[in-house]
Amino acid sequence: MYRIVEARDVGLRIRQITIEAPRIARKQRPGQFVILRLREQGERIPLTIKSSDPAAGTVTLVVQAVGKTTSLLSCLEAGDAVLDIVGPLGHPSEIAKYGTAVIVAGSVGTAMALPTARALKDADNHVIFIEGARTKEMVVFEEEVRAASHEAYILTDDGSYGKQGLVTKKLGELLDTGRKIDFVLAVGPVAMMRAVAQITNPLGIKTMVSLNSIMVDGTGMCGGCRVLLGKESKFACVDGPEFDASLVNFEVLMQRNAMYRDKECASLRYFEEHKAEEVAELRAELAAKQRELVRLRKELGELREITGEIEARDV
Ligand code: FAD
Ligand code: FES
Ligand code: MG
Repeated sequence: MYRIVEARDVGLRIRQITIEAPRIARKQRPGQFVILRLREQGERIPLTIKSSDPAAGTVTLVVQAVGKTTSLLSCLEAGDAVLDIVGPLGHPSEIAKYGTAVIVAGSVGTAMALPTARALKDADNHVIFIEGARTKEMVVFEEEVRAASHEAYILTDDGSYGKQGLVTKKLGELLDTGRKIDFVLAVGPVAMMRAVAQITNPLGIKTMVSLNSIMVDGTGMCGGCRVLLGKESKFACVDGPEFDASLVNFEVLMQRNAMYRDKECASLRYFEEHKAEEVAELRAELAAKQRELVRLRKELGELREITGEIEARDV
């Protein structure tokens, strides 16, 4: 059981959640993620660690409610808990002194890219952050984006905030004005990452993309997160999640990500119709689990006392 210490909305259907997980907080590096599970019968979902506080023993995640599990997680508040959380998983982002590094991020991808942007800035790169969102309410962490970069550009699809247009438009403009770009990291929807790769690949700009393939165990055992890089199969959980964009087969990724869409839509519909009962049921399950833990801890304490007494007697 991992207690939620803070939960707040940061955008439309986007919520920031801070969870007690001291061991993960101590080890986390930029680009790594966790896999969490809300309940015994629930599915496992991967979420990138936005930041961690080793002293407080907490990790901060940002979740966009897109389906059943992310919607259920988004209903939780400080004082609630998640059943289990494993991590940090995946390879950390490759941080080097590239020169000019551009981060291209879409909506919740902004939270996922922030730790890497900060690390690139600390490594003396000139960091340009291009944040895109569908609409104003989905623009997140603008202040943190500005602090993590030397130049920041915000765009919305509908023009309700920042400049109107897609993130790729801004990337294209920078290149058209002759800016020398040495490194690009794209984090967001697959279509956006593919579009970034289509711009940077012909120019030979080193580009990494953070692949959001469907994950189950996160240890390379289930094969759920298989991605195709050229002719080679890789597992996003243990070989990634960041890969060289020039090698990624985005079409296969899109197909695999859409494999369960009918079931996911039905599951979300059911959740939305029964939201209050589902949340109450989850809280009841977690409370029962908590009582069980307290009972087990008490029994363990008693066992230790008995063992101690026997050992003392034998000596
Ligand atoms: P569903 O309705 O079940 O699925 C919606 C879509 O999400 C699916 O069509 C599929 O493309 C994808 N998806 C479904 N199940 C999984 C799964 N088990 N693993 C991965 N993708 C899945 N989202 C965030 O909001 N914040 C993050 O920081 C974040 N970090 C991620 C890091 C990694 C390494 C990966 C692989 C994904 C990350 N995601 C993140 C995406 C997030 O895991 C999915 O949105 C979530 O699993 C969807 O679950 P759902 O039940 O709410 O939606
Ligand atoms: Fe199972 Fe990657 S999530 S192999
Ligand atoms: Mg799901």
